[in-house]
Amino acid sequence: CGIIGYIGNRKAVPVLLYGLQRLEYRGYDSAGIAVIDREEDKIIVEKQVGKIKDLQEKLWNKKIEGNIGLGHSRWATHGEPTIENAHPHTSKSGTIAIVHNGIIENYLELKKELEEKGYKFRSQTDTEVVAHLIEEFYNGNLFETILNVVKKLKGAYALGIISSYEPDKIIAVKKGSPLVIGVGKDENFIASDIPAVLEYTKDFIILEDDEIAVITKDNVEVYDINGNKIKKDILHVNWDISAAEKAGYKHFMQKEIFEQPRTVADTISGFSSQINEDLYNTVVNADRIYIIACGTSYHAGLVGKFWIEKFAKIPVEVDYASEYRYRDKIINDKTVIIGISQSGETADTRFALIDAQKEGAKTIGIVNVVGSSLSREADYTLYTYCGPEIGVAATKTFTAQLIVLLLFALELGLKKNTITKDLYEDLQQKILSIPSKIEKILLKEKSIKDIAYKYMNASDFLFLGRNINYPIALEGALKLKEISYIHAEGYPAGEMKHGPIALIDDKLPVVALAPMDKFYEKMISNIQEVKARKGKLIAVATEGDENIKELVDDIIYIPKTEDELYPILTVVPLQLLSYHIATLLGKDVDQPRNLAKTVTVE
Ligand code: G6P
Repeated sequence: CGIIGYIGNRKAVPVLLYGLQRLEYRGYDSAGIAVIDREEDKIIVEKQVGKIKDLQEKLWNKKIEGNIGLGHSRWATHGEPTIENAHPHTSKSGTIAIVHNGIIENYLELKKELEEKGYKFRSQTDTEVVAHLIEEFYNGNLFETILNVVKKLKGAYALGIISSYEPDKIIAVKKGSPLVIGVGKDENFIASDIPAVLEYTKDFIILEDDEIAVITKDNVEVYDINGNKIKKDILHVNWDISAAEKAGYKHFMQKEIFEQPRTVADTISGFSSQINEDLYNTVVNADRIYIIACGTSYHAGLVGKFWIEKFAKIPVEVDYASEYRYRDKIINDKTVIIGISQSGETADTRFALIDAQKEGAKTIGIVNVVGSSLSREADYTLYTYCGPEIGVAATKTFTAQLIVLLLFALELGLKKNTITKDLYEDLQQKILSIPSKIEKILLKEKSIKDIAYKYMNASDFLFLGRNINYPIALEGALKLKEISYIHAEGYPAGEMKHGPIALIDDKLPVVALAPMDKFYEKMISNIQEVKARKGKLIAVATEGDENIKELVDDIIYIPKTEDELYPILTVVPLQLLSYHIATLLGKDVDQPRNLAKTVTVE
């Protein structure tokens, strides 16, 4: 879910709506705002089911005059997306309004206590209890009351609270879920993340767990859970707001696919300055690395395993964070955990990493969002340099994660002497030419769109790859599922004959990743197996490969590169293929149904 809050001289409603649009990637099944009316010190709440634009339409003719307010976009956890369940939630008398991201784990217990006291609940959410609790315990001092109420809450939460009793402040509470304060001149903001208010300020205070902020128009004070004042630093960010605009592309996803030559290049050049001796020594001496992540970042981890094992000869296991967290972990002081997360806020990844850290593992985050939770929690952080990624389906951050993992594996190999200096230098050179090779693939968009048109009505897809390109088959299938809702599976090509081959008929499109690497011949055999059963074949092949033409129905050529570098190229046509299938089918590619870009609940 996304939280925004404003206090200052501007009209609150447009600022809140603008922020909500920026936060929509965190959830978009319903949204709402609460503003304290300037004349009457009364809280006005408006909510709507659907996207922010639906809320915007609802507010179109309404005159809401007020300079302090909260906004929220929701990704349903407790209760369906309805107006009643949308935030902000208010207390019985309407004097307290709150927005919440996260989960109050003991809400049923608290709800029961409140019901016994006569409180009636309007929603099925866990959030509403907090509004009632604040009203119940209000003692004439909102800050003190909230300090007391927060002590009763269990779980992870970020809260924004306003009250008509004290209409000159917003109170923000953070535990587990992210919350930042944007610091302006005669105005201040709260938000789930930095891009939501970049339009207004580049100065931020990042709240840590168990911190509570009292925010007025011209002041921000931060306290610990016991009410002691804490001195906080201001983080100045130099992101460009235009990075969060579509810049002429039809969708953010398309723009982000096309940004890859630059984001890959930026990530290459930004890599070396992030490395320090301490980090290297930690990893060079590691006897095992666990990579933990979710979704697309997990697929990057699977590719990373090949590189780290090949170049640095350290055994690597890759696991879904939600699984790793609850496994019996085998950790010693030579265990290194790499958590990969574009947002740095994915709860599964963060908590898995924190748990392992508590057990003694050294932790590294590979993160795109500067100042995000994971970047602060991990012992070391390696950034990807992509700027904000808005499309829900990750594209540019995936290729940048690959670059970080690859460069890291090479550096480790060099340090450990498990690769020669010549090989290291040769690969470094080849990596520098990756951005222009991606550029060449992007020029093929039109022909990829034609292929998309041919296969868009298929009900299933199979993606096949071998070795280092197998995770790309998984990623290709995930991309297609996420945005087109077509069922797709990724499989190791050699494993196909042990099961999925039963699915093949003349209606099943099979995307085969068949670059000219050392597995080419084997991949060709797998392609033959599909062809013999009349499957429709789309190959991603290396330029100059004429033989493959005989075997497949459609080909997308990619430039030649080293065997180890192919995944950074083979994924790009798959991104474009799913993008075009989804847009041809009229799907909402930037905000596919049921998904959220950043999932801050377990
Ligand atoms: C969500 C998104 C996925 C994404 C995953 C991990 O589920 O829908 O597209 O890959 O989170 O996100 P992260 O920010 O941790 O990389």
